[in-house]
Amino acid sequence: MTPQLNDKLRDRVEHEKSAHTEDDILKKNIELKGLFPHLSVSPTMQRLEKDFHLYLENVKGLRILDLGCGYGEQSLDLLQRGASVSGIDISQKYIDHTIKEAHKFNFSKSSYDFRVMDAHALDFSDAIFNLVVGRGILHHLDLKVVMGEIHRVLKTGGKALFLEPLAANPFLKLFRVLTPHARTKDERPLSPEDIRDIENSDWHVQNKYYGLISAPVAIFSSVFLRPFADNFLLHLADSIECRVNLIKTLEPLNQYVLLNLIRK
Ligand SMILES: C[S@@+](CC[C@H](N)C(=O)[O-])C[C@H]1O[C@@H](n2cnc3c(N)ncnc32)[C@H](O)[C@@H]1O
Repeated sequence: MTPQLNDKLRDRVEHEKSAHTEDDILKKNIELKGLFPHLSVSPTMQRLEKDFHLYLENVKGLRILDLGCGYGEQSLDLLQRGASVSGIDISQKYIDHTIKEAHKFNFSKSSYDFRVMDAHALDFSDAIFNLVVGRGILHHLDLKVVMGEIHRVLKTGGKALFLEPLAANPFLKLFRVLTPHARTKDERPLSPEDIRDIENSDWHVQNKYYGLISAPVAIFSSVFLRPFADNFLLHLADSIECRVNLIKTLEPLNQYVLLNLIRK
């Protein structure tokens, strides 16, 4: 059964809707990343993307939900690889764009379904998806409510894969404070308590962390070594980070967590 939302949560969803429709925060975020290009192409980010795609290697024939699909880039990639994809987002603008792209690439209409929908109250039956994926979505939502919904729509043994920003790194906190125009007022990068809550609930969890050292270095390098996107510093940061990240207590200081969850 889909949950009843309280007024506070409904207000939050309305703010997200207008921030992503009238203000196009997603576009501003993409533009901000363009100012610091080494953040997206560093060896660490390449490692992250490789890991992410490894989890999505055999998707042919699977029924997948892309939560907060934005402009639909990931949904289209999954369609391309033979999955059947439902993509939902709170912004009509992003859903219109995604449907247009799906038409353009001539995917069979029976293989996709893109709809405006609140992730806290999914309009899907129980246990119908093999996989739920999302990039940068959980931190816009009430975690307890949405994790319940994801659990409900997944089949037993189904998987959920999320890439989310983390809250604790002081340097990245400062970066966020200095760039408020690229964020919504209610978004909250995940805290160690949030991760613990997910780990304590109805999931088998295997998380990976990225960007402890490489993210600050990539910001520095984007400014001072801009023409050299494949520089020594970025490689050094990545190799130090791989070792330092073996220390569990430092995990929350990373830029991103890749949550790889299996529904119990
Ligand atoms: C940071 S963007 C990420 C978009 C996309 N996954 C990507 O990687 O480009 C967050 C997305 O979550 C959507 N969103 C925010 N609140 C939502 C909600 N309550 N239900 C569904 N989507 C929501 C926004 O409209 C936006 O597209």
